[in-house]
Amino acid sequence: MCGIVGYVGDEECAGLLVEGLRKLEYRGYDSAGVAVLGKKGLEVVRAKGKLSNLEARLGEHMPKGATGIGHTRWATHGKPSDENAHPHKYGGVAVVHNGIIENHLELKDELLKQGHKFSSETDTEIFAHLIHREIEKGLRLPEAVRSALKQVKGTYALAVMSEKFPEMLVVSKNASPLVVGLGDKCNFVASDVPAILAHTRDVIYLEEGDFAVITKGEVELTNANGEKLNRGVKRIDWTPTMAEKNGHKHFMHKEIHEQARALTDTIRGRANIEEGDVFLDGCRLDAKLVQRLTKVQIVACGTSWHASITGKLMIETLARIPVEVDLASEFRYRDPLVDDKTLCVAVSQSGETADTLGSFREAKSRGARGLAICNVVGSAIAREADDVLYTHAGPEIGVASTKAFTTQLAAFFLLAVRLGRLRGTLSVPDAQKHLEALFEVPMLVERVLKYEEQIKAAAYKFSNARDLLFLGRGPQYPVALEGALKLKEISYIHAEGYAAGEMKHGPIALIDENMPVMVLAPRDSTIDAGVNYEKILGNIQEVRARGGRVIAIHSEGDTQVPKLAEAAIPLPQTNPLLMPIISVIPTQLFSYHVADHRGTDVDQPRNLAKSVTVE
Ligand code: F6R
Repeated sequence: MCGIVGYVGDEECAGLLVEGLRKLEYRGYDSAGVAVLGKKGLEVVRAKGKLSNLEARLGEHMPKGATGIGHTRWATHGKPSDENAHPHKYGGVAVVHNGIIENHLELKDELLKQGHKFSSETDTEIFAHLIHREIEKGLRLPEAVRSALKQVKGTYALAVMSEKFPEMLVVSKNASPLVVGLGDKCNFVASDVPAILAHTRDVIYLEEGDFAVITKGEVELTNANGEKLNRGVKRIDWTPTMAEKNGHKHFMHKEIHEQARALTDTIRGRANIEEGDVFLDGCRLDAKLVQRLTKVQIVACGTSWHASITGKLMIETLARIPVEVDLASEFRYRDPLVDDKTLCVAVSQSGETADTLGSFREAKSRGARGLAICNVVGSAIAREADDVLYTHAGPEIGVASTKAFTTQLAAFFLLAVRLGRLRGTLSVPDAQKHLEALFEVPMLVERVLKYEEQIKAAAYKFSNARDLLFLGRGPQYPVALEGALKLKEISYIHAEGYAAGEMKHGPIALIDENMPVMVLAPRDSTIDAGVNYEKILGNIQEVRARGGRVIAIHSEGDTQVPKLAEAAIPLPQTNPLLMPIISVIPTQLFSYHVADHRGTDVDQPRNLAKSVTVE
């Protein structure tokens, strides 16, 4: 939530800041701004709305200077407006901030009494005033920022510059992400790596309480007490083009089409069919540790929560250990039953989701071992984990998660096989069969993507729907939830995902000719001897009997389901536990084409942000 970028060096930086903000727009996009320090002093340009509005304003007047900060906002305090956009400037100090300052009203009252005048409704502006007050007392910028930070309560990633201390950025973080980029005679700061990837791949991830003074030749890193730190430099293996659209109309479309590659990268080097086992770099799970476990507790939000429900099925089926899945926002406040015999798995694309991080900490504080399934290397959740299983999806820029979901499923499958082998519940031949199926998945994903035109035709046909119901059973139930979430977030059509067996317990009342129903009906005979398939056929008949219009996702070669549907999308068949990776793809493409046809902002849907770093 909110994106920060900063530069200090020799080049004119306004354009560079905007280019960085473009890569961060997924974090928030209700207003944006830059502050640049040059011969004319500190100039701030801000605009409500998308980055293009800021660019238009910069077209009229481009501030000159080689030290600057930029921000793209997701509003928490104060509506989206020019005045509330960051950077906030006061007395020659400019500030950008991501997070929430909880005691800003108290501090504001105090400053108002001292004659300060505020020009926005934000909590952030308080920083500019506090820092200015400290500088007036005679402190240098770094000490002034440190002193201001002692006065605030809350979360922040902060970047500050001052007219009095040119060619210097002071940054600090507490709970919101911040990464420092090391350039050649220049240095950078950003909320996320893609913002600076075009300029450097050498970065330092800041940790809680870290404080850095950045000049063009040096990055001086200290902790909250002012003691020097050496965090080590990480080399990023993402390339700048990975964060580009590469000819696709939207990032979401590109990311849907990248899934075979992302899955291959997630699986590669981790599974050995001959040995019938999995080797998870970054995880130090051994037989002794795993055999002690009495349960697995998964915490996640949104799409990652849907992946986790499938993860439960995979782990319970292959490793025969009870798994609980909780919405992270619920888990952390319910006095959960977790102890040192629990493996807590936190699942998060960004690795920064506040509720997931909070729940993970809660479980770990009760003795649980913490394993993270994350995409962003070095993110907060990954750093706090005992074991990390990275998904290697590459940067996901579209706000609606796609390749993160499918790679999370692959990661869960690898974990389930590993746990099964360590617990002795999965024989070598069975593990071999499962891993062979996993290796085929990227190829099957390519095959299902070839049905795009058919899926698009179905999407156009139903794009005027007001509501849509997604039904699935067994492994397809989480896919129904995920399909509904995708459709509602990018097309603004109201959609619900339901376990098909639950339909009779309520939602059937909604069914008429105005309620299209997408039914996930692949054949999966091994896991349930075909029961799910037989039952879902019955559910389709129930929908039709009430005048409902059916869009069916069915196995290639199935002749029964397509006959009952107004639109039918075939799927290649695979191991039922892996089927969700395949069957979710038509739901992603369906939502994408519905939204594109309706003309919504697919990559940046209203009110959303990619990383939810506030509760
Ligand atoms: C939906 C979506 C969100 C995220 C959720 C968790 O398309 O992207 O529901 O899945 O905000 O985010 P992460 O996985 O970063 O913790």
